[in-house]
Amino acid sequence: MLDRIPTGIPKLDEIIGGGFIKGRTYLIAGETGTGKTIMSLQFLLQGLKNGEQCAFVSFDDRIANVISGTLNLGWNFNPYIRSGQFVPFEIRLRTEDLRHGKESKAFVKNIQRYLRGRTISRLVLDPISALAQGVGDLLWVREYIREIVSYLEEEIGCTTVVTCDIPTGSNSLSRYGVEEFISSGIIVLEIKRIGEKFYRLIYVRKMRWSPMDMTIYTFEIVPGKGIVIGEPLNKLLEK
Ligand SMILES: Nc1ncnc2c1ncn2[C@@H]1O[C@H](COP(=O)(O)OP(=O)(O)OP(=O)(O)O)[C@@H](O)[C@H]1O
Ligand SMILES: [Mg+2]
Repeated sequence: MLDRIPTGIPKLDEIIGGGFIKGRTYLIAGETGTGKTIMSLQFLLQGLKNGEQCAFVSFDDRIANVISGTLNLGWNFNPYIRSGQFVPFEIRLRTEDLRHGKESKAFVKNIQRYLRGRTISRLVLDPISALAQGVGDLLWVREYIREIVSYLEEEIGCTTVVTCDIPTGSNSLSRYGVEEFISSGIIVLEIKRIGEKFYRLIYVRKMRWSPMDMTIYTFEIVPGKGIVIGEPLNKLLEK
């Protein structure tokens, strides 16, 4: 039997057959502002509440902004940070480093340095697409991301969520066309205009080794709770 861990969103656990498979990598894909960072933090909060050690790596926003932003959402990560159970940090990437061929092993070692020997069970990289911004060689970027994910699974062995911002209006699932293949599952977040209103939508695009519900659901971002999945989109359209 594959070990399953709760995602932090009870309805999502149901949709994907009991939660994420322990030790695998999952992708949350979506355009800007769809809720990727919030969902990834919700996944970590669930782990923290279960007494697990978790880490969050920010590649685009200052970590202080992320933590103060979550306070607005009614989530207080500070006690977990103080006790050392939660390790959030930012890694600033310089385009020059990437252009000269950054080593994927060195990247994973750098993350391990921040973890200082802790056994992390949940890790978030937000957003993985930032790793390759400004790099022209797509093949190189694909290989780099593929290597990082496989080293992470081997070396740290935790369940990892990577977020990926996809260009507005594009139909792809990722920015570099590789993120979707290296992950065990993909969850897509969208904002769609229907009539005079915008709706948040969530669906599962791929879930290796799991039965999956292909329904497109609506969701809301609720202070104190985070992502709350609501009724299916087709129910809403019937009204
Ligand atoms: N306190 C809050 N209450 C309700 N909704 C909120 C709150 N804070 C943020 N949101 C909603 O969440 C959205 C941002 O979510 P999030 O930062 O997770 O998106 P993202 O997909 O990571 O975006 P980006 O690609 O820019 O990083 C906001 O646009 C807003 O609609
Ligand atoms: Mg974000």
